[in-house]
Amino acid sequence: MIIGRSTLEEPEIAYELFQRAHGRGYATEAARAVLDAATVTGRKRLWSTVGAWNTPSLRVLEKLGFERDHVSTEESGEVVWLTRSLP
Ligand SMILES: CC(C)(COP(=O)(O)OP(=O)(O)OC[C@H]1O[C@@H](n2cnc3c(N)ncnc32)[C@H](O)[C@@H]1OP(=O)(O)O)[C@@H](O)C(=O)NCCC(=O)NCCS
Repeated sequence: MIIGRSTLEEPEIAYELFQRAHGRGYATEAARAVLDAATVTGRKRLWSTVGAWNTPSLRVLEKLGFERDHVSTEESGEVVWLTRSLP
């Protein structure tokens, strides 16, 4: 098991919307609700892994207060690992 990647204590958030729904703030709104749910169920930290090319997804995470932790090189290319501390 990789700590910080899909563990119960520090889960990873991911999202995908139909293309016709992009650009209306829905991913940010939905992810914010997930952050709230993670907080009230006792999580102290969330992670996300995003392709370095994925500007929209990185922007969503930036809006939600995620910070870059490190970058890894996978078969699919450069992957940015971001983390968000919860109150
Ligand atoms: C990532 C994804 C969920 C975003 O959904 P969304 O509802 O469009 O996101 P939001 O509208 O909440 O926010 C998108 C932000 O990215 C910005 N953005 C979108 N395309 C951009 C681009 N090409 N360059 C710069 N910024 C861009 C938007 O302007 C917006 O930021 P803003 O509020 O500052 O204007 C959607 O693009 C998607 O489903 N992509 C395919 C699946 C995917 O890549 N999932 C993530 C895997 S980690």
